[in-house]
Amino acid sequence: MSNQEFDLAGKVAIITGGSGALGGSMAVHLIKQGVKVAILDLRPEATESRVEELKELGGEAIALVSSVLDKGQLQAAKDKIIKEWGKIDILINAAGGNMPGATIAPDQTIFDLSIDDFKKVSDLNLNGTVLPSIVFGKVMAENNAGVMINISSMTAQRAITRVVGYSAAKAAIDNFTKWMSVEMALKFGGGVRVNAIAPGFFIGEQNRKLLTNEDGSLTERGKTIITQTPMGRFGEAEELNGTIHWLCSEASKFVTGIVVPIDGGFSAYSGV
Ligand SMILES: NC(=O)c1ccc[n+]([C@@H]2O[C@H](COP(=O)([O-])OP(=O)(O)OC[C@H]3O[C@@H](n4cnc5c(N)ncnc54)[C@H](O)[C@@H]3O)[C@@H](O)[C@H]2O)c1
Repeated sequence: MSNQEFDLAGKVAIITGGSGALGGSMAVHLIKQGVKVAILDLRPEATESRVEELKELGGEAIALVSSVLDKGQLQAAKDKIIKEWGKIDILINAAGGNMPGATIAPDQTIFDLSIDDFKKVSDLNLNGTVLPSIVFGKVMAENNAGVMINISSMTAQRAITRVVGYSAAKAAIDNFTKWMSVEMALKFGGGVRVNAIAPGFFIGEQNRKLLTNEDGSLTERGKTIITQTPMGRFGEAEELNGTIHWLCSEASKFVTGIVVPIDGGFSAYSGV
């Protein structure tokens, strides 16, 4: 296998949620490979500062302040990328996350669930991947070339207490990843691949308080997760990048419709 198969230089990537912890780390990795990166995120300041960081690394980057739930904004973002760079090679759907209202607190049960919050978290984590896949994926389908990567979670395969809405949406992401991979290959040739990664537990703003106390020690939930992780630690955002790189590259050109766990062994372990 030659290094050429892993060469990503000159490709154009869109990273939704690219101002966040995981999408941001992926953006830094791709820019260092010579990829042109568009950061599509809801938060204007965080998006601009991420783009500045990427430019300081010597790469080409643009900010697209848009919502993954607004088809009109996504179409405008697509037009801007095509005008600037003429193509779309990679879409990473990293916008997403849990929402406090859709979580069952320790003193609640499922019968206390707010269905409005359940809908909101499902909307962001499922439709927020489906819509960009349709808008940007159409360009890929027309060229019969491209890579889409979705972000699943450990909550998709096994019940993880409290995060009911998030879990349902991430389970749907696994299914959508397979469905879309088949659709692309059957109807548009084998040039567009759709895969997902399923990160284990990575400390970010959304889960910091759930997993760690203010003094940095682990909460009971944090301890349980570490006990169930054979490698005995949380992941570091950079540890996703090797798999992202492989899935974006020609080295994985016969790989489509899979969900890769990156979890220190969490999903393999029975706990016994
Ligand atoms: N951190 C973890 O341990 C972990 C584990 C498994 C899966 N994930 C998933 O990985 C992805 C990234 O997680 P993260 O930890 O980087 O979260 P994060 O909160 O740091 O980043 C998410 C980003 O999405 C953006 N966003 C939210 N709503 C949006 C919208 N409507 N349109 C555009 N952008 C929007 C936010 O502004 C933010 O920058 C999410 O899908 C999350 O569910 C995270």
